[in-house]
Amino acid sequence: MSAPVFKQSTTLTLKKGDILILPWFDGRNPCFTTSLIPDIAADTRPDKEGGAATVFAGRIKKGRMIARAQRLDARHTTPADALKKAVSDAVSLCETENMKRVVVLLDNDDSGLVHAAHEGTVTGGYRFDTYLSDKPDLPLVLAVTRKGLRGLRREIEENSILFHYCNFARDLLNEPPNVITPVTLAERYAREAGKVGLDITIWDEKKLEEEQCGGIIAVGKGAASPPRLIIAEYRPRGASMHLVLVGKGITFDTGGYCLKPSNSQIGMKYDMGGAAAVLAAGMAIASLEIPINLTVLAPLAENDISSSAYHTTDIIKMRNGTSVQVDNTDAEGRLILADALCLACEKEPDWIIDAATLTGACCVALGEDIAGLFGDDEEFNSTLVQCGRECGELYWPLPLHMPYMEELKTPAADCKNIGGKWGGALTAALFLKKFIKKEIPWIHLDIAGPAVKEEPLGHLGKGAKGFGVKTMVNIARKLGEK
Ligand code: BES
Ligand code: ZN
Ligand code: ZN
Repeated sequence: MSAPVFKQSTTLTLKKGDILILPWFDGRNPCFTTSLIPDIAADTRPDKEGGAATVFAGRIKKGRMIARAQRLDARHTTPADALKKAVSDAVSLCETENMKRVVVLLDNDDSGLVHAAHEGTVTGGYRFDTYLSDKPDLPLVLAVTRKGLRGLRREIEENSILFHYCNFARDLLNEPPNVITPVTLAERYAREAGKVGLDITIWDEKKLEEEQCGGIIAVGKGAASPPRLIIAEYRPRGASMHLVLVGKGITFDTGGYCLKPSNSQIGMKYDMGGAAAVLAAGMAIASLEIPINLTVLAPLAENDISSSAYHTTDIIKMRNGTSVQVDNTDAEGRLILADALCLACEKEPDWIIDAATLTGACCVALGEDIAGLFGDDEEFNSTLVQCGRECGELYWPLPLHMPYMEELKTPAADCKNIGGKWGGALTAALFLKKFIKKEIPWIHLDIAGPAVKEEPLGHLGKGAKGFGVKTMVNIARKLGEK
């Protein structure tokens, strides 16, 4: 990965090769631009439509300095989100125009905007360039504020860690499926996560068999790379509450014998979006020393076709003894999650949250920007929605409508793995609920939309978004205070 460096200064000196961002708020510019750069300020009014005006600054034009006045009161977004996007766009402009620096003029009375500029730099400027022979030269982003940012130093350092792990999750997802398999992902994570104080245990196919994880075994047995379960534990001194995060880790979903059409297979390397989010969040939570006991469970498998792959109508037995008839091999995520959720409940935690790119039906319901949220504990649900909103990740509640449980019935087994034609996100969530102990507050997040979205989302460019990492870290912070 590459990401631009973020720095801060209290003096404004523009150089050849700079792009200057002058944010405007509600038609005014409260920053100190006019006094610092009187020669160009008059020309840097944004257009009335809410877009950015690009102006070339006097004689520096030939030296390729560009000033952009960016309105931050755009109608469908917040000033902070608009600034993240402005910084991210400026980084792209630097790449195409071969510019060296982005300078953002800010008023540091609004710390939210300083953090937004930082986020726009690190996650907005992220590039997955591992396989490029010519890696892009990324600019430096300089936030110029009237006062120094000493008071914000700690928050900025913490955000640097957070944004780094958002990008870590994106790297895991952007890696091609021939490189990231269950085996290589588990190895890579064990190597990286050991460094930040997480205890890592990996269950291989033999151990998974011994531990009666029939769902993970069934889904993974068609692939050359056998399945794995990553168990990451963080036990800080003095913490009393326990949160378990579970993430679906299908490193590639062909659909199995219920084969997806080739077009629908595009994007299915992102079918480990839940696992990437919880694994990265686990590392961030440990690095930030958030005072909560944390267990991260990531069941990993590749859903393939081969003579050893599972079939439609196979009957398998999950970790808690529930028998499941596989009526569709493409509804594989819920099978690997079932075992992991059983294990999560055995640990008797205070909360369980799972994240999974579980159903296309959830994308139909909410589109690609918003994840679905399922859970019976209203207070826990609204805490999560709020935690997401605070960091720009959107969740919308969908119902665990019990009458639809009927759709999972089958004569030959305790249940089957698909429901009827409609409400697929709901029947998938109800399937998971079968493996949760009633007394444990649980939330299921169907992140199929935002985690698999290929086109840009806000300030985040094409490819993996790392969706969910910030929300998980935010909620760990909140729950750790209880
Ligand atoms: N990984 C897919 C869900 C998915 C689809 C995520 C599109 C992101 C974009 C999942 O394993 C799947 O294939 N689900 C099926 C379930 C169906 C067979 C009941 C689906 O959504 O079609
Ligand atoms: Zn599938
Ligand atoms: Zn899947």
